[in-house]
Amino acid sequence: VQDLVPLRDTVDFPLGVAIDSRETSGAASELLLRHFGQVTGENHMKVEAWYDAQQRFQRHAEATALLDYAQANDLRLYGHVLVWHSQSPEWFFEREDGTALTSSEADKAFMRERLRTHVFDVARSIAEDYGPYGSDTNPLVAWDVVNEVVSDANEPGDGLRRSAWYSILGEEYIHLAFRYADEAFNEVYAAEGTDRPVALFINDYNTEQGAKQDRYRALVERLLAAGVPVDGVGHQFHVSLTTPVSSLTVALDRFADLPVVQAVTELDVTVGTPVTEANLVAQGHYYRDAFDVFRDFHARTGDMYSVTVWGLTDNRSWRSTQAPLLFDGALQAKYAYYGAAGLD
Ligand code: XIL
Repeated sequence: VQDLVPLRDTVDFPLGVAIDSRETSGAASELLLRHFGQVTGENHMKVEAWYDAQQRFQRHAEATALLDYAQANDLRLYGHVLVWHSQSPEWFFEREDGTALTSSEADKAFMRERLRTHVFDVARSIAEDYGPYGSDTNPLVAWDVVNEVVSDANEPGDGLRRSAWYSILGEEYIHLAFRYADEAFNEVYAAEGTDRPVALFINDYNTEQGAKQDRYRALVERLLAAGVPVDGVGHQFHVSLTTPVSSLTVALDRFADLPVVQAVTELDVTVGTPVTEANLVAQGHYYRDAFDVFRDFHARTGDMYSVTVWGLTDNRSWRSTQAPLLFDGALQAKYAYYGAAGLD
């Protein structure tokens, strides 16, 4: 692992990276620990990860590995994700006899209970083995409570994604997810005398794009007005070289007047294909400008909760053919790293 300036020393907010157990040992771990102070599970705390084939609640070995690694290395752990339309088991939206849940009162009641049970099972499973939230032994600091609930199209009325969650409960599922998470993480399983140990986030993509940003803002306003315990607004920022960096500033500023912190939750910058030297240089400039936006936003507001890069090395990225990350498959720093760090 190269002897580089730790990227996390170049920013005043926690710097995170999405991983699974492949990054928790050897040279990858060494690279991770040098540059990052926070981790997100890329896949293994999603809804489907918490159940076995018999629909029984379990904690996946990968989730345990993540918790152990974070605990052992003093890393903050950002939970991802309690409620999402994707990577959730199909049976989650079905009755016990396998028929689809509807928006009948009986089915709504069933779904509210299923949601509450899921959130409490996750909270309890972690607290049982790692101690209460807010204690030194429990690395969990935040959760994406709901993910991608805003529609990409301009749905009439509320602008929410027409997901299985939505078709059963309407907007109520979003309110309930936060209320249950607040109860579980910040009341029932919190360390005594600790003030809100787990920050509760809403998270979405394309929040740098105008119309979706309008819908996102309107939803967050409705949640706050209804007294829903949302602490933070997440911006995935899966961007490309053609995304104006100025739109990232606009996205963050758009929520700056609200009583919430903000997080960049899944940053990556695709360069198109084929990947060329020129594109990788341009990507370095992009990361330089984007990190300047984040530093500047935090200097102005103090509200940048964390910035997370969606993977450690290009070969491990969900968009690996477009080399979107800071380090290459040989764990070498790309121009992207030097740009993000503000080095030449
Ligand atoms: C992605 C993972 O990176 C992939 O490994 C997986 O196959 C699919 O999900 N928005 C999110 C993340 O909130 O959970 C997604 O992660 C990327 C888009």
